Amino acid sequence: MKVLVTGAKGMLGQDLCPILEDEGYEVIETDIDSLDITNIKNVEDVLKSNMPDFVIHCAAYTNVDKAEEDTENAEKINIQGTQNIAQVCKKLNITLVYISTDYVFDGTKTGKYLPSDKPNPQSIYGKTKLGGEKAVMQCEKYYITRTSWLYGHHGKNFVETMISLKDKDLKVVDDQIGCPTWTVELSNGIVKLIEEQAPYGIYHVCGSGYTSWYGFAKKIFELCNLKVNLSPCTTDEFPRPAKRPKNSIMENNKICRNWETALKEYIELRSE
Ligand SMILES: NC(=O)c1ccc[n+]([C@@H]2O[C@H](COP(=O)([O-])OP(=O)(O)OC[C@H]3O[C@@H](n4cnc5c(N)ncnc54)[C@H](OP(=O)(O)O)[C@@H]3O)[C@@H](O)[C@H]2O)c1
Repeated sequence: MKVLVTGAKGMLGQDLCPILEDEGYEVIETDIDSLDITNIKNVEDVLKSNMPDFVIHCAAYTNVDKAEEDTENAEKINIQGTQNIAQVCKKLNITLVYISTDYVFDGTKTGKYLPSDKPNPQSIYGKTKLGGEKAVMQCEKYYITRTSWLYGHHGKNFVETMISLKDKDLKVVDDQIGCPTWTVELSNGIVKLIEEQAPYGIYHVCGSGYTSWYGFAKKIFELCNLKVNLSPCTTDEFPRPAKRPKNSIMENNKICRNWETALKEYIELRSE
């Protein structure tokens, strides 16, 4: 089976591609230099000449705060770019896997978000990712995999930021809760969905359990055996340009392991 990955040089793509290869897939890695998703002709040419069985669409505009002012670019990449990918996948009968986000929700629900819950994004990034979801739904054969609080060995992320700040006095937001997810867990979850030929539709592929950003930071330092001056704060004390959901816990139907188990493994691998 042949899989084409967009955004393969990103944090997720760099873990996903070797995992797919280990599973026996022929992997075509693309990124903006070889497949600019905003260029429909480029998308058509690359997909037609490779004719993959699956496209796993990881490419995105991912700077959540910058998107608030750089809206045009965020829309161009996340909505128009995804529309291009979806349109060509539909035409060529290719199954499309799209990576979406917990930021499509407004965070006002009590309890876990289900894939069937109504999205109501509060940020430009969330709105553009939801626009991408709508474009993907025009295909007959698609998986929308919503993930959250992603970290991995190949990109800028919360775990690495916390570790880099270990010598400072740190205040971390304690009134936003969600599901930390290692890129390897998400990759394995995606492989599981396509291997099992799960019904097409929306899935939540994130770590099981939940915590706050403060709880996440505390666990990171505990697993790294670092003594850090860490204290909780509120969202109001740490204002950011983009509004985040207070609650973004998603029901994952056991697709991924517990977030703490995954984080422990990530930290162990990191210190090797
Ligand atoms: N990170 C998170 O916490 C998180 C949470 C939920 C969902 N997600 C979703 O998960 C997916 C993967 O995220 P990630 O963290 O791996 O993102 P990432 O590291 O920012 O990777 C995205 C990749 O897409 C590339 N790209 C940007 N514009 C492109 C274009 N026009 N054509 C082709 N490629 C383009 C980027 O290249 P440049 O670096 O050169 O721009 C980068 O290599 C995204 O869909 C994201 O929305 C992420």
